[in-house]
Parts: sequence; C-alpha cells; structure tokens
Amino acid sequence: MESSKGRPVWRGEVKQVGTITVTDDTTGKTVKLPLLEGETGPRAIDVRKLYAETGYFTFDPGFTSTASCESAITYIDGDEGILLHRGYAIQDLAENCDYLEVCHLLLRGELPNPQQKEDFERTITYHTMVHEQLSRFYSGFRRDAHPMAVMCGVTGALSAFYHDSTDILDPRQRMIAAHRLIAKMPTMAAMAYKYSVGQPFMYPRNDLSYAENFLYMTFGTPCEAWKVDPVLARAMDKIFILHADHEQNASTSTVRLAGSSGANPFACIAAGIASLWGPAHGGANEAVLKMLEEIGSVDRIPEIVRRAKDKNDNFRLMGFGHRVYKNYDPRAKIMRQTCYEVLDVMGIKDEPHLAIAMELEKIALEDPYFVEKKLYPNVDFYSGIILKAMGFPTSMFTVLFAVARTVGWISQWKEMIEDPVQKIGRPRQLYTGATKRDFIPLAERG
Ligand code: ACO
Repeated sequence: MESSKGRPVWRGEVKQVGTITVTDDTTGKTVKLPLLEGETGPRAIDVRKLYAETGYFTFDPGFTSTASCESAITYIDGDEGILLHRGYAIQDLAENCDYLEVCHLLLRGELPNPQQKEDFERTITYHTMVHEQLSRFYSGFRRDAHPMAVMCGVTGALSAFYHDSTDILDPRQRMIAAHRLIAKMPTMAAMAYKYSVGQPFMYPRNDLSYAENFLYMTFGTPCEAWKVDPVLARAMDKIFILHADHEQNASTSTVRLAGSSGANPFACIAAGIASLWGPAHGGANEAVLKMLEEIGSVDRIPEIVRRAKDKNDNFRLMGFGHRVYKNYDPRAKIMRQTCYEVLDVMGIKDEPHLAIAMELEKIALEDPYFVEKKLYPNVDFYSGIILKAMGFPTSMFTVLFAVARTVGWISQWKEMIEDPVQKIGRPRQLYTGATKRDFIPLAERG
C-alpha cells in the first residue's frame, strides 16, 4: 500500500507462531487452533474454523478477549499506559504536530512532508463548507435538542448530499468521503451549537487553521471581528489530537460493523456518533463535569468515594477506569497540563471543579479499591474542565469528541474496506429463550 505521494505505508504482518490445543473435557476430543502474533501485543488464538470443526462457538460478551480485526493504525499497551498511532507516541504527536498532521498520519499511514502537509491542509480547508440545503435540517430540530442528537441526524444526512463519494469500492471516492467528513464535522458541530443558542450559522474561513476555524464558527458572530487566542487554539487542537483514534473501542467497532455490510461511510460515521454518545464512552466527559458539579465541594469527596466503592450503589466515579488502560491514561496526563494552560490564559484562578478534580484524583489514586482494580483517571477526567473554561456548554463536550474521532473512525473504516479478509460482521449467541412452542390462537391466550 502507498501513502499519498509514493512513500510506502508501514504495515507488518500477522504470523502464525504455533498452535494451541483445546480439549473438550466432556468428550475428550481435541482441536488444534493456530496461534497468531502481530507486530507487538498479546498473541491471539485463531478461532475462525472452530465452529466448522467442533460445532462450538466462543463466548465473549463485551469482547474483553476478542481481537475483531487486524489493524496497523493504533496500538495501546494498557498495562504500561502506552498509546501509539502508526508507531508514534501520543506524547510526541501532541507536543510536535498539529491535528491535521495526525489526521494525515492516521488516514494515509505516514506523517506528511511539508508539501504533503500543505496539500492536505488545502484539501481539508476546501471541503469545510456544507451543502447549503443541509443547514435547513437544523431548523427541523427543537432548539433544546441535544447536539449529539442533531449530529447523528445531520451526519447520516450527508449521504443524501454527496452521492459522488458513496461508492465504497472506489478508492478515490473513499478518500473524498474521508476528506469531506474530517472537513465538515467541525462546521456541522458549530452549527449545532449556534442553532441551540439562536445565533446565525457562521461560514468557515479558509484563512484559519482547523482548530481556529472551529472556534471561530462556534464563538464568532457576524457583528464583530473575531480573534482567537493562540493558547486556546492550540489547546483545542491538542484536544482533537488526543481524541483522534483509540483502536477498536465501542464507537470504532460500531463504525466497522456498520461498514462491514457495505453501508456508505457517512451512514457508518453516524452510527459511530450514536455509539459515542453513551456515558460509558464519549459521554463520560459530560458526566464528569455533572459529577463535579454535584459534588460541589472538596469535603464531600469521601462520601462520593464511599459511594463509588459500594457494590450496592450503581454510582461510578466518572472519568475513572478504562477497559484497556490499567495504568494512567497517557492522554489524561497531557490533558491535565493543557487544563492548567487554558485556565491560566482565561485568567481563571481557584476553579472550583479543578480543585475537586485534583483532590478526587489524589484520594482515588491512594485508595486500595481503586489501586487494586487499577482504576486511573482517563482522558475525560480533565477535558470537561478545559472545555467549560473555553466556553462550551456541557452538552457540546461529546460533540467535540465526535469531531476529533471522525478521522479515527474513517481511517479504521477505510482499512476495513481495504482488508482482503474482511467480511460482514455477524456474531453468534448463546440462546437462552424458549425452545419450539405450540402456537396459541389469540382467543385462547389467557
Ligand atoms: N468507579 C468505581 N468503580 C469502577 C469504576 C469507576 N469509574 N470503573 C470500574 N469500576 C469497578 C467495577 O465496579 C468493577 O468492579 P468489580 O470487579 O468489583 O465488579 C471493576 O472496577 C471493573 O469494571 P468493569 O465495569 O468490569 O470494567 P470495564 O472495562 O467493563 O469498564 C469503563 C470500563 C466502562 C470505562 C468503566 O471503568 C466506567 O464505567 N468508568 C466510568 C465512565 C468513564 O469514565 N468512561 C470513559 C471511558 S474512556 C473513553 O471512552 C474515552
């Protein structure tokens, strides 16, 4: 595979390194299954022929032990707290790149050289406007609609506007769809915000960077010249980088599963947005801020921690814990630093939520319950405080996550379509319902 200008995209291979023998203790029958190894990370047992050879399924609700695909995009070592995109550490990318360079890396496989960077920026910039008719969709929503509801709708609607990039078998159309999605998502997100506050939509400006343009479309008005603070634009850009991709999480797997049936990319990304909305996933940053507001003061923390540990209480410490990280989420560390920078530039001293967050983090990191279960702050723990300081309402937090994650979703979707072993995703089940019953006519049902 080639990157945009001929440099090869680095991609290793899955190797078979042995076999594993599984014995059915009830019958004594054995089956040998191939043992696979990628470039790094845990080995995987290849169970593709298991059903054909034994008549058995594997059972793994929540996919805690299942690798659903091969991927060369993102690698996470959850025990060590490592996150790599195409081999580059997230810390290096967040420190040295802008978001569009990271988009180029994820989508095209390599960091751009200066010419590629210029070309890519131009391509994205010149796709930021949305079809004028799309703006009428917004007025169909109630003013108090959650912006994630609006985003699910308008993103799905893109497939009704851009027919020339929905042929998933055409590599050029796939790339155009990717560019359109990365470019238009901030415009649509800013429009969702503007609609909710009753202000006019702002057209994108081609002289601004990706992050600046988003802030301009969100907070600018036609009434006055608008100037972005470079620290805030950089913070926004960093937040986008930190959320750009995260391997086979719930929303990415949703995008892949939706796309595995051959659905068009706009519809698949709308499915990803729906999945991201939940509080266990992208909705957590909104939930963190609500939780900090509810806690209200530092002296209530012990009570909150007690509730989080109580088995009979459904309450969880939002922004803590992660399916994969059993160490400090590397993105959370960068987010914490960005948080200080933003509060400083905004002149916000003694931010009450930050004080509660820091104390909560300190107590939880020392508490045996959290230590034993390896529950550390995740990326969402600090992002809500930054976004609130920047002026975003909490309902927009997950929307920003969706804007940033679009590149990850579409890169993973594209990788899936280009994967020769790809087939429709169709899990099986352990059936626990009634077996065949005799039909009862309506009149005889008691
Ligand atoms: N507060 C208190 N206890 C917790 C928390 C928490 N935040 N998270 C997990 N636990 C406990 C569970 O009760 C469970 O305890 P048990 O073993 O005694 O039953 C144990 O830790 C393992 O938790 P699971 O739910 O089995 O872990 P899973 O991997 O399924 O869940 C998840 C991960 C969903 C992120 C969970 O930690 C959670 O709900 N966290 C809060 C929500 C959140 O911050 N989500 C954002 C995730 S990051 C992202 O999407 C960008």
